Amino acid sequence: MSVESDVIVMKLSEMNREKLQQFKTECETAYKAFLDEKLSLDMSRGKPAPKQLDLSMGMMDCLKAEDFRAENGLDCRNYGVLDGLPEVKHFFEPMLGVSSDELIVFGNSSLNAMYWAMSVAMTNGVLGGTPWRKLDKVKFLCPVPGYDRHFAVSEFFGMELINIPMNSDGPDMDLIEKLVAEDDSIKGIWCVPMYSNPGGVVYSDEVVKRFAALKPKASDFRIFWDNAYCVHHLTDNPPVQVNLLEEAKKVGNENICYMFASTSKITFPGCGVAIMAGSKENINDLKKSLAFATIGYDKLNQLRHLRFFDGKFENMLEHMKKHKDLIAPKFNIVINTLRDELSDLEIADWSEPVGGYFVSFNQKGCAKRIVQLCKEAGVVLTGAGASFPYGIDPEDENIRISPTFPTEEELQKAMDVFVCSAKLAAAEKLLAE
Ligand SMILES: Cc1ncc(COP(=O)(O)O)c(C=O)c1O
Repeated sequence: MSVESDVIVMKLSEMNREKLQQFKTECETAYKAFLDEKLSLDMSRGKPAPKQLDLSMGMMDCLKAEDFRAENGLDCRNYGVLDGLPEVKHFFEPMLGVSSDELIVFGNSSLNAMYWAMSVAMTNGVLGGTPWRKLDKVKFLCPVPGYDRHFAVSEFFGMELINIPMNSDGPDMDLIEKLVAEDDSIKGIWCVPMYSNPGGVVYSDEVVKRFAALKPKASDFRIFWDNAYCVHHLTDNPPVQVNLLEEAKKVGNENICYMFASTSKITFPGCGVAIMAGSKENINDLKKSLAFATIGYDKLNQLRHLRFFDGKFENMLEHMKKHKDLIAPKFNIVINTLRDELSDLEIADWSEPVGGYFVSFNQKGCAKRIVQLCKEAGVVLTGAGASFPYGIDPEDENIRISPTFPTEEELQKAMDVFVCSAKLAAAEKLLAE
């Protein structure tokens, strides 16, 4: 949709009231036409599309009935092996850039592993430290906008969440260094270092190194380094990032981080394999607690992943290129529609990510209204404010756009509704001022 008007090329803020009113009327007419279409489109969560899931259908039969033994002869149909089959650990080493003894293979969800690691800190403490539940206050740093489920985990454990602004190269490190040096009730930070959710930010090497060298007042401070999108590139020449644990080792700070990833958006979400890595000391300590939580995870699923990728991490990277071919055109639809329809008006800005699952859109004071307008026109988006702790976006500006799940046709329609709603919300706001 484009509003055919001579005012379209002007900045909205430079229009006089009369032109603005005319612009709003045109937007309303376009919006009413969408209402008449009775659309039903869901862009609320970052899920792979069915065609992406089809890429992994080989998983269904790559494990033959007679193929139930690990390399060491272990019968994977039975109980045993707490931290992952050795060959599966070896397979995942490059994903987080660690060695097998720095790695645990979990079940089907990295978020579950993060939740669990945080719950152990709450109940039993970190490396012999006071259990966090016994402290008067536990604070956690949350780069914003960020992943709603991260913030929800810390909120669930009763922590106080502190917003940290994101820059184009990662979170505001000056602020982080200052806060953690002064306050020992700050016990950690959530980070998505590669293609952050939702901003698509790739932390610079300088930022990673500053994280690696962080000197918090609390010795049990941990960086929850969620590398969920480390292989989810949208380009053939993806950025390369220094490894946090490696950098931390160089400065004798290797216990500073817990790292996570999973195959959720590589094979099947909810049926993948999750991994966690950290220093040997952290991992060995966590394994002691893990033994109380489970006898072991799904080793047949571990084997299935190993077989599907023929035991080679490079094959997984090749597989991700097929995902890229399916979803990069969808990101282009989102970016092109935003550029074509909103650039000249200068009412909003947005990320143009080279990986990950989201486009982050900002329009000050309008996020709730845009989400509401879209919803009434049958396009469901992630709730406004969701990417902030407690669901509170101080500027009411951020909306997470998830392009992957709808078909290209559905996505174009949803984006047409979105930009129409964004324009209408902007005009309403300016006229009300
Ligand atoms: C940053 C981030 N971490 C973790 C997850 C969930 O991962 P898993 O399926 O491994 O629990 C998501 C899902 O959207 C995510 O965006």
